[in-house]
Amino acid sequence: MKTKAVIINEYGGKEVLTEGEVTLPELGAHQVMVRTKATSVNPIDWKLREGYLQQKLDWEFPIILGWDVAGVIEAVGSEVSNWQVGDEVFARPETTRFGTYAQFTIVDDHLLAKKPVHITFEEAAAVPLAGLTAYQALFDHGQLKKGEQVLIHAGAGGVGSYAVQLAKQAGAFVYTTASLKNHELLYKLGADQVIDYRTINLQELLTDIDLVLDTIGGDTQEESFPILKEGSGRLISVLQEPDQELAKTKQVTAKSMWLEPNGEQLAILADLLEQKKIRSVIAQSFPLTESGIYQAHELSEGHHAVGKIVISSET
Ligand SMILES: NC(=O)c1ccc[n+]([C@@H]2O[C@H](COP(=O)([O-])OP(=O)(O)OC[C@H]3O[C@@H](n4cnc5c(N)ncnc54)[C@H](OP(=O)(O)O)[C@@H]3O)[C@@H](O)[C@H]2O)c1
Repeated sequence: MKTKAVIINEYGGKEVLTEGEVTLPELGAHQVMVRTKATSVNPIDWKLREGYLQQKLDWEFPIILGWDVAGVIEAVGSEVSNWQVGDEVFARPETTRFGTYAQFTIVDDHLLAKKPVHITFEEAAAVPLAGLTAYQALFDHGQLKKGEQVLIHAGAGGVGSYAVQLAKQAGAFVYTTASLKNHELLYKLGADQVIDYRTINLQELLTDIDLVLDTIGGDTQEESFPILKEGSGRLISVLQEPDQELAKTKQVTAKSMWLEPNGEQLAILADLLEQKKIRSVIAQSFPLTESGIYQAHELSEGHHAVGKIVISSET
């Protein structure tokens, strides 16, 4: 089956994004075909477009970028029992070259979750990659517990905006960093204290932090070690492998992680969305066209989008 898509035929700048048609692999027994209503942009999209991830993901062209989808099931594989044509779903599909900037996307059935009824397809498409990253960083890797103090870097970003809400839901005391213009939003999302990273030295303000979620890397990561609780503190980075010497000196655990797509965990997030305990913050929506994706990448590459950038196939 062929799908219309925004694709790349080579690595490079935003100008390599182009509209085209791609033949999708045959639908597997445990896969479904989703008609895309909305997708979203994550930094991995333009990092991959530039070729920065070629060593890890060495794919042939054309590549359809995008790894978030919200839409309606169009067809189901022969062994699919839990899902039916017409179901409204969302997912973080497996990381393949047949991504989600496309009219149709193939998703393994165990990675799907039901789209919460009261939210839009755009709000749903914002969630899977960023929301699951936040969830796994805080709970699977970070072991965050009620009553602990967590520092979430870049609370206003895609991952950060879900992490702040999830940590608050879990009963943690939530510190987060953001520029001043985003402080009001972050207090509304549930942060207990928002720190202007442009003017405040973390070490002068924070001590005995149980968990740091690092979404920035570099100096930000390094400067997070002294504020961790000696002996039991944890630092989880979604960006770069932490310095084990620094971890040893402070007697803390520090590691990097790479998101694992997970339908069961996405269903937990769907529940929280349904109950209005968490929500998607949408920076801007663009159409699923060459120029729409171009502008969306431009905004994401600027590093200061507020929440998630979504792509709608219906505008
Ligand atoms: N390992 C994985 O599996 C995984 C999964 C998802 C994402 N990631 C990576 O995690 C990083 C974050 O992803 P994302 O989707 O959250 O990015 P994003 O949405 O593009 O982040 C943008 C946000 O970062 C904030 N920001 C920029 N510089 C900052 C700084 N120095 N300190 C604090 N906040 C700062 C901005 O807020 P202000 O305007 O207030 O500065 C903006 O709201 C990316 O590099 C991405 O590739 C990794």
